[in-house]
Amino acid sequence: AGGLRYLRYGSLHGSVLGLEAVLPDGRVFDSLSTLRKDNTGYDLKQLFIGSEGTLGIITKVALSVPRRPTSARTMFLGLRDFDAVRTTYARAREQLAEVLSAFEVADAQSMDMLFEERGDHHREPLDRRYPFHLVIEVSGSHAAHDAEKMDAFLEALMGDGLVEDGVVAQDAEQSAALWALRENITVALNQAGYVYKYDFSLPLNSFYELVEETRARIEARFGGGDAGGESEIPLRVVGYGHVGDSNLHLNVCTPGRKRPTPEVTEVIEPFVYDFVREKRGSISAEHGLGQMKPAKIFH
Ligand code: LAC
Ligand code: ZN
Repeated sequence: AGGLRYLRYGSLHGSVLGLEAVLPDGRVFDSLSTLRKDNTGYDLKQLFIGSEGTLGIITKVALSVPRRPTSARTMFLGLRDFDAVRTTYARAREQLAEVLSAFEVADAQSMDMLFEERGDHHREPLDRRYPFHLVIEVSGSHAAHDAEKMDAFLEALMGDGLVEDGVVAQDAEQSAALWALRENITVALNQAGYVYKYDFSLPLNSFYELVEETRARIEARFGGGDAGGESEIPLRVVGYGHVGDSNLHLNVCTPGRKRPTPEVTEVIEPFVYDFVREKRGSISAEHGLGQMKPAKIFH
């Protein structure tokens, strides 16, 4: 219920126009409108969206589908710290405004994992790894207009020293290659071993703090990292996600393992959930609750 362009197109809650569902007692709930406006009291269909089958089985859905933009441009940037990420995002909202369609982040550790696991599928986009990388996309209906906006945006970022280095895709193929760097992080992590996956909504001012704190807890318990030395259990803590939606994917990978490791789980949970609750974030920004998370909400 999220994804890479939620920032532009919003959630299913906004794009479902109507639906039909069969209730547990066999009755049919019919709210299958195909029109956008309806202000006749309770919007009951919203209860079904994200209910994961607990209220009924959805049998028909009417969606409002946006037109595909006729022009799109993708850039990949390297930044020195998360403050620069936040400032760049604020600038993008202001300067790219209506043509901004994605603003994604991946930390250095995510990129390290991607290239270690799947190096033969990708090409390094920049000369070196940076603490943070952004994939920013603009799309619209007028390629020259979008390009002009993007060039002015990039020039200002470079001029103010917010961005260390960057590339702009010159065609659809290069654009797909840049997107693949962001999209295949999960693939690389899953390939390496068991992954503790989190999908949090967090305000941008504490977004990356959670990754750093989790990393520090893990290093304190198992060694390795900045403290130097080998860790008892090889662990990789990575942060990536949808900056434009304040949606962080904190992932902790235990390479070579197929199942959770109780000593590791103990260091991460309930710490991460407490952190997110304290910041009034969400423990499931886009992936839903499934079978593991309800207990974390109703604790
Ligand atoms: C992503 C998936 C994990 O953003 O939601 O890559
Ligand atoms: Zn995601």
